[in-house]
Amino acid sequence: ANKTLISPSILSADFARLGEEVRAIDERGADWIHVDVMDGHFVPNITIGPDVVKALRPHSEKVFDVHLMISPCDAYLEAFANAGADYITVHAEATTHLDRSLQAIRQLGKKAGVSLNPATPETVLEYVIDKIDLVLVMSVNPGFGGQSFIESQLQKIERIRKMIGDRDILIEVDGGVTPANAAAVAGAGADVLVAGSAVFKGGTPDHYEANIAAIRQA
Ligand code: DX5
Ligand code: ZN
Repeated sequence: ANKTLISPSILSADFARLGEEVRAIDERGADWIHVDVMDGHFVPNITIGPDVVKALRPHSEKVFDVHLMISPCDAYLEAFANAGADYITVHAEATTHLDRSLQAIRQLGKKAGVSLNPATPETVLEYVIDKIDLVLVMSVNPGFGGQSFIESQLQKIERIRKMIGDRDILIEVDGGVTPANAAAVAGAGADVLVAGSAVFKGGTPDHYEANIAAIRQA
């Protein structure tokens, strides 16, 4: 991978004006748009579903990076694919048949991602590594924005980088990413940085632009 991509999480956007917020980050420097889908079961929070993704789709042509924190997930993959997701990422902990879920995503013509909670070892990737396009390393326990980065995940990123070798697989890191730690996260091997609170802090498009630039400069 060459340049580090920034994927702002709309979890920290104003939900009453989501379309505008997506347009704002699109125009102010986002590479991708990160969409956090939570079910109140796999994680202790509820956010948005496929109809919202579909409604947002016309507001940006950027990659929609859809992070499913739902269990079970298989029944919803098609709905998110049809809604316009580009990457669909499922949690290894949320699906009994991870291989099946990943195959289903690729059969829908989408890029397949696997996410690992902070306590999940990278070894779960061993038998699916040739069936994925992205690994999402959670650097917080998923469920909420604004939590602190868990330092132990830097070692996991380094280990996954080695496992990937010369395969065409991106490493994305999600949770507590700020200008203060972005260099360390990218240095450990991350290709895509997700940031929610660090991007939407301030609440105006001018802030978003400055916040994204600060992460990029780091
Ligand atoms: C956590 C979500 C993240 C999170 C990022 O459950 O998957 O995308 O909202 O937000 P910050 O950057 O505020 O940790
Ligand atoms: Zn996320």
